[in-house]
Amino acid sequence: MKRRAFLAGAAAAAVSVPLTSSAVPQLPPMPDTSGPGLKAHAARSGRRYGCAIKSSQMQSDPALTAAIVREAGVIVQEWELKRNATQQRPDRFDFSGADKLIAFAQKNGMAARGHTLVWYAANPKWLDAAMRTSPRRRQEGLLGGYITAAMRRYAGKITEWDVVNEAIEPKEGRPDGMRAKTIWGEALGEGYIDLAFHLARDADPTARRFLTDYGLEHTSRRCEQRRTAILKLLERLLARGVPVQALGVQGHLKPFQEGFDERVFANFLDEVRGMGLKIAITEFDLADRGGPLDIDQRDAEVAAVGRAFLDVALDNPAVGSVLTWGLSDRYSWLSTYEGYRWPDGELSRGLPLDSNFRRKRLWAAIAQAFDHAPRAEAELPVPGLPA
Ligand code: XIL
Repeated sequence: MKRRAFLAGAAAAAVSVPLTSSAVPQLPPMPDTSGPGLKAHAARSGRRYGCAIKSSQMQSDPALTAAIVREAGVIVQEWELKRNATQQRPDRFDFSGADKLIAFAQKNGMAARGHTLVWYAANPKWLDAAMRTSPRRRQEGLLGGYITAAMRRYAGKITEWDVVNEAIEPKEGRPDGMRAKTIWGEALGEGYIDLAFHLARDADPTARRFLTDYGLEHTSRRCEQRRTAILKLLERLLARGVPVQALGVQGHLKPFQEGFDERVFANFLDEVRGMGLKIAITEFDLADRGGPLDIDQRDAEVAAVGRAFLDVALDNPAVGSVLTWGLSDRYSWLSTYEGYRWPDGELSRGLPLDSNFRRKRLWAAIAQAFDHAPRAEAELPVPGLPA
Protein backbone atom coordinates (compact mmCIF):
# COMPACT_ATOMS: atom_id res chain seq x y z
CA MET A 1 0.00 0.00 0.00
CA LYS A 2 1.44 3.34 -1.05
CA ARG A 3 1.92 5.90 1.68
CA ARG A 4 0.55 9.34 1.22
CA ALA A 5 2.99 12.05 0.23
CA PHE A 6 3.81 13.22 3.71
CA LEU A 7 5.18 9.80 4.57
CA ALA A 8 7.07 9.10 1.36
CA GLY A 9 10.83 9.21 0.96
CA ALA A 10 12.27 8.07 4.27
CA ALA A 11 14.20 10.63 6.30
CA ALA A 12 13.35 13.67 4.25
CA ALA A 13 9.71 13.26 5.04
CA ALA A 14 9.71 13.30 8.81
CA VAL A 15 6.89 15.73 9.40
CA SER A 16 6.12 16.58 12.96
CA VAL A 17 2.77 17.92 13.91
CA PRO A 18 3.40 21.25 15.54
CA LEU A 19 1.98 21.58 18.98
CA THR A 20 1.95 25.30 19.44
CA SER A 21 -1.02 27.41 18.53
CA SER A 22 1.00 29.48 16.07
CA ALA A 23 1.87 26.47 13.98
CA VAL A 24 -1.38 24.60 13.33
CA PRO A 25 -1.38 23.57 9.68
CA GLN A 26 -5.01 24.29 8.88
CA LEU A 27 -8.22 24.55 10.80
CA PRO A 28 -10.36 21.47 10.37
CA PRO A 29 -13.80 22.63 9.31
CA MET A 30 -16.86 22.80 11.46
CA PRO A 31 -18.74 19.57 10.89
CA ASP A 32 -21.85 18.82 8.96
CA THR A 33 -24.40 18.48 11.71
CA SER A 34 -26.97 16.28 10.06
CA GLY A 35 -25.09 13.93 7.70
CA PRO A 36 -24.26 10.26 8.25
CA GLY A 37 -22.57 9.15 11.46
CA LEU A 38 -18.92 8.26 11.90
CA LYS A 39 -19.76 4.59 11.40
CA ALA A 40 -20.74 5.37 7.80
CA HIS A 41 -17.48 7.23 7.18
CA ALA A 42 -15.52 4.34 8.68
CA ALA A 43 -17.34 1.81 6.51
CA ARG A 44 -16.06 3.52 3.34
CA SER A 45 -12.64 1.94 3.84
CA GLY A 46 -13.98 -1.28 5.36
CA ARG A 47 -13.53 -0.16 8.95
CA ARG A 48 -15.53 0.29 12.10
CA TYR A 49 -16.01 3.26 14.36
CA GLY A 50 -17.27 2.86 17.89
CA CYS A 51 -17.10 4.17 21.42
CA ALA A 52 -17.04 3.18 25.07
CA ILE A 53 -20.17 3.51 27.20
CA LYS A 54 -21.35 2.79 30.73
CA SER A 55 -24.75 1.22 31.28
CA SER A 56 -25.60 3.85 33.92
CA GLN A 57 -25.23 6.65 31.34
CA MET A 58 -27.19 4.69 28.79
CA GLN A 59 -30.11 4.32 31.18
CA SER A 60 -30.18 7.89 32.42
CA ASP A 61 -29.49 9.79 29.22
CA PRO A 62 -31.59 9.03 26.13
CA ALA A 63 -29.80 11.77 24.18
CA LEU A 64 -26.51 9.94 24.65
CA THR A 65 -28.07 6.67 23.59
CA ALA A 66 -29.50 8.27 20.46
CA ALA A 67 -26.14 9.81 19.60
CA ILE A 68 -24.42 6.46 20.00
CA VAL A 69 -26.94 4.75 17.75
CA ARG A 70 -26.36 7.47 15.14
CA GLU A 71 -22.57 7.44 15.26
CA ALA A 72 -21.27 4.06 16.42
CA GLY A 73 -21.09 0.64 14.77
CA VAL A 74 -19.39 -0.99 17.74
CA ILE A 75 -19.42 -0.42 21.48
CA VAL A 76 -17.13 -1.34 24.34
CA GLN A 77 -17.80 -1.28 28.07
CA GLU A 78 -16.03 1.60 29.79
CA TRP A 79 -16.47 -0.13 33.12
CA GLU A 80 -18.79 -3.11 33.22
CA LEU A 81 -16.38 -5.93 32.36
CA LYS A 82 -13.59 -4.96 34.72
CA ARG A 83 -13.37 -7.32 37.62
CA ASN A 84 -14.37 -4.86 40.28
CA ALA A 85 -17.59 -4.48 38.35
CA THR A 86 -18.24 -8.18 37.74
CA GLN A 87 -16.77 -9.87 40.79
CA GLN A 88 -17.26 -7.88 43.96
CA ARG A 89 -17.43 -11.22 45.76
CA PRO A 90 -15.23 -14.24 45.11
CA ASP A 91 -18.07 -16.70 44.76
CA ARG A 92 -20.33 -14.90 42.31
CA PHE A 93 -20.09 -13.13 38.96
CA ASP A 94 -22.41 -10.22 38.28
CA PHE A 95 -22.72 -9.59 34.57
CA SER A 96 -25.88 -7.48 34.80
CA GLY A 97 -24.25 -4.23 33.62
CA ALA A 98 -22.46 -5.84 30.69
CA ASP A 99 -25.61 -7.78 29.76
CA LYS A 100 -27.47 -4.49 29.34
CA LEU A 101 -24.78 -3.10 27.06
CA ILE A 102 -24.63 -6.24 24.96
CA ALA A 103 -28.42 -6.30 24.63
CA PHE A 104 -28.27 -2.66 23.50
CA ALA A 105 -25.63 -3.51 20.90
CA GLN A 106 -27.62 -6.46 19.59
CA LYS A 107 -30.84 -4.51 19.41
CA ASN A 108 -29.16 -1.81 17.35
CA GLY A 109 -27.13 -4.08 15.08
CA MET A 110 -23.80 -3.06 16.60
CA ALA A 111 -20.73 -5.17 17.19
CA ALA A 112 -19.17 -5.31 20.66
CA ARG A 113 -15.60 -5.42 21.95
CA GLY A 114 -14.85 -6.75 25.44
CA HIS A 115 -12.73 -4.76 27.89
CA THR A 116 -10.89 -6.19 29.78
CA LEU A 117 -10.06 -9.69 31.04
CA VAL A 118 -6.69 -9.22 32.77
CA TRP A 119 -5.55 -5.85 34.09
CA TYR A 120 -3.34 -4.81 36.98
CA ALA A 121 -5.96 -2.19 37.97
CA ALA A 122 -9.68 -2.23 38.79
CA ASN A 123 -9.54 -5.50 40.70
CA PRO A 124 -11.58 -6.03 43.87
CA LYS A 125 -9.62 -6.02 47.13
CA TRP A 126 -10.33 -9.66 47.84
CA LEU A 127 -8.72 -10.60 44.54
CA ASP A 128 -5.52 -8.68 45.27
CA ALA A 129 -5.31 -10.40 48.63
CA ALA A 130 -6.11 -13.85 47.27
CA MET A 131 -3.45 -13.56 44.56
CA ARG A 132 -0.85 -12.71 47.20
CA THR A 133 -1.64 -15.59 49.49
CA SER A 134 -2.85 -18.50 47.34
CA PRO A 135 -0.87 -21.46 45.98
CA ARG A 136 -0.05 -21.37 42.29
CA ARG A 137 -2.90 -23.55 41.06
CA ARG A 138 -5.40 -21.30 42.76
CA GLN A 139 -3.69 -18.19 41.36
CA GLU A 140 -4.03 -19.61 37.86
CA GLY A 141 -7.67 -20.33 38.57
CA LEU A 142 -8.25 -16.76 39.73
CA LEU A 143 -6.84 -15.51 36.46
CA GLY A 144 -8.43 -18.05 34.17
CA GLY A 145 -11.84 -18.53 35.76
CA TYR A 146 -12.86 -15.04 34.76
CA ILE A 147 -11.56 -15.35 31.20
CA THR A 148 -13.50 -18.53 30.69
CA ALA A 149 -16.72 -17.29 32.30
CA ALA A 150 -16.85 -13.93 30.50
CA MET A 151 -15.83 -15.20 27.09
CA ARG A 152 -18.20 -18.14 27.13
CA ARG A 153 -21.07 -15.98 28.29
CA TYR A 154 -20.64 -13.60 25.38
CA ALA A 155 -19.44 -16.04 22.73
CA GLY A 156 -20.76 -14.92 19.37
CA LYS A 157 -21.76 -11.53 20.82
CA ILE A 158 -18.41 -10.03 21.79
CA THR A 159 -16.18 -10.58 18.79
CA GLU A 160 -12.96 -8.99 20.10
CA TRP A 161 -11.48 -9.06 23.58
CA ASP A 162 -8.81 -7.00 25.31
CA VAL A 163 -7.33 -10.09 26.89
CA VAL A 164 -4.41 -8.42 28.67
CA ASN A 165 -4.40 -4.67 29.25
CA GLU A 166 -1.35 -2.55 30.17
CA ALA A 167 1.26 -5.27 30.70
CA ILE A 168 4.26 -2.97 30.30
CA GLU A 169 5.47 -0.07 32.42
CA PRO A 170 9.12 0.78 31.75
CA LYS A 171 9.15 3.51 34.37
CA GLU A 172 8.82 0.87 37.08
CA GLY A 173 12.43 0.01 36.32
CA ARG A 174 12.54 -3.59 35.09
CA PRO A 175 15.09 -4.01 32.30
CA ASP A 176 12.52 -5.69 30.05
CA GLY A 177 10.05 -2.85 30.55
CA MET A 178 7.39 -5.16 31.93
CA ARG A 179 5.07 -3.81 34.62
CA ALA A 180 6.47 -4.74 38.02
CA LYS A 181 3.51 -3.87 40.22
CA THR A 182 0.83 -6.25 39.03
CA ILE A 183 -0.79 -9.04 41.00
CA TRP A 184 -0.63 -11.26 37.92
CA GLY A 185 3.06 -10.82 37.15
CA GLU A 186 4.09 -10.93 40.80
CA ALA A 187 2.41 -14.29 41.20
CA LEU A 188 2.96 -15.95 37.83
CA GLY A 189 5.74 -14.06 36.06
CA GLU A 190 5.39 -13.08 32.42
CA GLY A 191 3.75 -16.46 31.81
CA TYR A 192 0.47 -14.98 33.09
CA ILE A 193 0.12 -13.43 29.63
CA ASP A 194 0.69 -16.77 27.90
CA LEU A 195 -1.85 -18.44 30.13
CA ALA A 196 -4.42 -15.71 29.56
CA PHE A 197 -4.21 -15.92 25.77
CA HIS A 198 -4.29 -19.71 25.71
CA LEU A 199 -7.34 -19.80 27.95
CA ALA A 200 -8.99 -17.11 25.87
CA ARG A 201 -8.52 -19.17 22.74
CA ASP A 202 -10.02 -22.19 24.46
CA ALA A 203 -13.00 -20.23 25.78
CA ASP A 204 -14.04 -18.70 22.44
CA PRO A 205 -11.76 -19.50 19.52
CA THR A 206 -13.69 -17.17 17.21
CA ALA A 207 -13.14 -13.95 19.18
CA ARG A 208 -10.08 -11.89 18.25
CA ARG A 209 -7.55 -11.63 21.06
CA PHE A 210 -5.86 -8.29 21.79
CA LEU A 211 -2.96 -7.10 23.88
CA THR A 212 -3.69 -3.44 24.64
CA ASP A 213 -1.60 -0.57 25.95
CA TYR A 214 -1.21 3.19 26.14
CA GLY A 215 1.61 5.68 25.55
CA LEU A 216 2.62 4.28 22.16
CA GLU A 217 2.23 7.31 19.92
CA HIS A 218 4.13 10.38 21.07
CA THR A 219 7.76 11.26 20.38
CA SER A 220 8.64 11.52 24.08
CA ARG A 221 11.26 9.29 25.67
CA ARG A 222 8.42 7.81 27.73
CA CYS A 223 6.61 6.62 24.60
CA GLU A 224 9.84 5.56 22.90
CA GLN A 225 10.57 3.22 25.81
CA ARG A 226 7.02 1.97 25.80
CA ARG A 227 7.08 1.20 22.06
CA THR A 228 10.31 -0.75 22.51
CA ALA A 229 8.90 -2.69 25.45
CA ILE A 230 5.68 -3.62 23.69
CA LEU A 231 7.44 -4.71 20.48
CA LYS A 232 9.83 -6.88 22.46
CA LEU A 233 6.98 -8.37 24.42
CA LEU A 234 5.04 -9.16 21.24
CA GLU A 235 8.14 -10.76 19.76
CA ARG A 236 8.59 -12.98 22.80
CA LEU A 237 4.92 -13.94 22.86
CA LEU A 238 4.88 -14.87 19.18
CA ALA A 239 8.15 -16.81 19.52
CA ARG A 240 6.53 -18.84 22.30
CA GLY A 241 3.46 -19.53 20.20
CA VAL A 242 1.14 -17.47 22.39
CA PRO A 243 -2.10 -16.92 20.44
CA VAL A 244 -2.17 -13.13 20.55
CA GLN A 245 -3.70 -11.81 17.34
CA ALA A 246 -3.81 -8.06 17.59
CA LEU A 247 -2.45 -4.96 19.29
CA GLY A 248 -4.82 -2.40 20.72
CA VAL A 249 -3.30 1.06 20.68
CA GLN A 250 -5.37 2.86 23.29
CA GLY A 251 -4.58 6.28 21.82
CA HIS A 252 -5.03 8.62 24.78
CA LEU A 253 -3.20 11.56 23.24
CA LYS A 254 -1.72 14.52 25.10
CA PRO A 255 -1.33 17.06 22.30
CA PHE A 256 -0.28 19.91 24.57
CA GLN A 257 2.21 17.93 26.60
CA GLU A 258 4.05 15.62 24.19
CA GLY A 259 4.97 15.76 20.50
CA PHE A 260 3.72 13.61 17.66
CA ASP A 261 5.76 12.58 14.64
CA GLU A 262 4.00 10.87 11.80
CA ARG A 263 6.96 8.79 10.70
CA VAL A 264 7.76 7.49 14.18
CA PHE A 265 4.20 6.30 14.70
CA ALA A 266 3.90 4.90 11.17
CA ASN A 267 7.09 2.89 11.60
CA PHE A 268 5.84 1.47 14.87
CA LEU A 269 2.55 0.35 13.31
CA ASP A 270 4.43 -1.11 10.34
CA GLU A 271 6.51 -3.20 12.72
CA VAL A 272 3.41 -4.52 14.43
CA ARG A 273 1.78 -5.36 11.11
CA GLY A 274 5.04 -6.96 9.99
CA MET A 275 4.62 -9.44 12.84
CA GLY A 276 1.37 -10.58 11.27
CA LEU A 277 -0.81 -8.84 13.83
CA LYS A 278 -3.96 -6.80 13.40
CA ILE A 279 -4.29 -3.41 15.06
CA ALA A 280 -7.12 -1.31 16.46
CA ILE A 281 -7.24 2.12 18.06
CA THR A 282 -9.23 1.18 21.11
CA GLU A 283 -9.58 4.21 23.42
CA PHE A 284 -8.94 7.31 21.33
CA ASP A 285 -9.30 10.73 22.93
CA LEU A 286 -7.16 13.84 23.34
CA ALA A 287 -6.48 15.57 26.65
CA ASP A 288 -6.93 19.28 26.00
CA ARG A 289 -5.41 20.44 29.26
CA GLY A 290 -2.66 22.96 28.63
CA GLY A 291 -4.16 24.02 25.30
CA PRO A 292 -5.31 27.53 24.35
CA LEU A 293 -7.99 29.02 26.57
CA ASP A 294 -9.94 30.11 23.51
CA ILE A 295 -12.23 27.15 22.96
CA ASP A 296 -12.52 27.34 19.21
CA GLN A 297 -8.77 27.57 18.82
CA ARG A 298 -8.27 24.70 21.24
CA ASP A 299 -10.83 22.55 19.43
CA ALA A 300 -9.05 23.28 16.16
CA GLU A 301 -5.67 22.25 17.50
CA VAL A 302 -7.03 19.11 19.12
CA ALA A 303 -8.71 18.23 15.83
CA ALA A 304 -5.53 18.84 13.84
CA VAL A 305 -3.49 16.48 16.00
CA GLY A 306 -6.32 13.94 16.00
CA ARG A 307 -6.39 14.06 12.20
CA ALA A 308 -2.62 13.63 11.92
CA PHE A 309 -2.72 10.65 14.27
CA LEU A 310 -5.61 8.99 12.45
CA ASP A 311 -4.14 9.64 9.01
CA VAL A 312 -1.12 7.59 10.02
CA ALA A 313 -3.16 4.90 11.75
CA LEU A 314 -5.61 4.48 8.88
CA ASP A 315 -2.85 4.45 6.30
CA ASN A 316 -1.93 1.08 7.78
CA PRO A 317 -4.24 -1.57 6.35
CA ALA A 318 -3.94 -3.69 9.51
CA VAL A 319 -5.87 -1.04 11.46
CA GLY A 320 -9.46 -2.22 11.29
CA SER A 321 -11.29 -0.06 13.80
CA VAL A 322 -11.18 3.12 15.82
CA LEU A 323 -13.04 3.49 19.09
CA THR A 324 -13.15 6.66 21.15
CA TRP A 325 -13.23 6.43 24.94
CA GLY A 326 -16.71 7.85 25.23
CA LEU A 327 -18.53 9.87 22.59
CA SER A 328 -19.57 13.14 24.19
CA ASP A 329 -17.62 15.52 26.41
CA ARG A 330 -20.53 15.25 28.84
CA TYR A 331 -19.05 11.92 29.93
CA SER A 332 -15.30 11.75 29.57
CA TRP A 333 -12.82 10.22 31.95
CA LEU A 334 -10.48 13.04 30.86
CA SER A 335 -12.55 15.43 32.98
CA THR A 336 -12.03 13.44 36.16
CA TYR A 337 -8.66 11.71 35.86
CA GLU A 338 -5.98 13.53 37.82
CA GLY A 339 -3.37 13.61 35.05
CA TYR A 340 -5.75 15.02 32.46
CA ARG A 341 -8.44 17.14 34.07
CA TRP A 342 -8.42 20.91 34.11
CA PRO A 343 -7.62 22.21 37.62
CA ASP A 344 -10.63 24.56 37.58
CA GLY A 345 -13.07 21.75 36.85
CA GLU A 346 -13.79 22.80 33.26
CA LEU A 347 -14.99 19.88 31.14
CA SER A 348 -12.38 18.37 28.88
CA ARG A 349 -13.09 18.64 25.14
CA GLY A 350 -11.33 15.53 23.91
CA LEU A 351 -14.21 13.62 22.28
CA PRO A 352 -16.06 13.99 18.95
CA LEU A 353 -19.29 15.49 20.41
CA ASP A 354 -19.54 18.39 22.85
CA SER A 355 -21.44 18.16 26.13
CA ASN A 356 -24.70 18.91 24.27
CA PHE A 357 -24.05 16.16 21.73
CA ARG A 358 -23.14 18.59 18.95
CA ARG A 359 -20.45 17.52 16.50
CA LYS A 360 -17.15 19.35 16.98
CA ARG A 361 -14.14 19.92 14.76
CA LEU A 362 -12.70 16.69 16.12
CA TRP A 363 -15.74 14.88 14.74
CA ALA A 364 -15.00 16.37 11.31
CA ALA A 365 -11.33 15.42 11.60
CA ILE A 366 -12.26 11.80 12.33
CA ALA A 367 -14.81 11.71 9.51
CA GLN A 368 -12.30 13.12 7.03
CA ALA A 369 -9.54 10.79 8.14
CA PHE A 370 -11.91 7.87 7.48
CA ASP A 371 -12.95 9.36 4.11
CA HIS A 372 -9.35 9.64 2.92
CA ALA A 373 -8.15 6.28 4.22
CA PRO A 374 -7.05 3.50 1.89
CA ARG A 375 -8.96 0.27 2.34
CA ALA A 376 -8.32 -1.88 5.37
CA GLU A 377 -7.07 -5.39 4.67
CA ALA A 378 -9.52 -8.23 4.94
CA GLU A 379 -10.45 -9.35 8.41
CA LEU A 380 -8.91 -12.52 9.77
CA PRO A 381 -10.92 -15.54 8.72
CA VAL A 382 -13.11 -16.74 11.53
CA PRO A 383 -12.27 -20.33 12.45
CA GLY A 384 -15.04 -22.66 11.47
CA LEU A 385 -16.45 -20.30 8.85
CA PRO A 386 -15.52 -20.10 5.17
CA ALA A 387 -12.89 -17.36 4.58
C1 XIL B 1 -11.14 4.27 32.91
C2 XIL B 1 -12.61 4.68 32.88
O1 XIL B 1 -12.82 5.57 31.84
C3 XIL B 1 -12.99 5.30 34.18
O2 XIL B 1 -14.39 5.59 34.19
C4 XIL B 1 -12.62 4.39 35.31
O3 XIL B 1 -12.85 4.97 36.50
C5 XIL B 1 -11.15 4.01 35.26
O4 XIL B 1 -10.87 3.44 34.00
N1 XIL B 1 -7.13 2.84 30.10
C6 XIL B 1 -8.04 1.81 30.13
C7 XIL B 1 -9.42 2.09 30.57
O5 XIL B 1 -7.74 0.70 29.66
O6 XIL B 1 -10.02 0.96 31.17
C8 XIL B 1 -9.50 3.26 31.51
O7 XIL B 1 -10.86 3.55 31.75
C9 XIL B 1 -8.80 4.45 30.91
C10 XIL B 1 -7.35 4.14 30.66
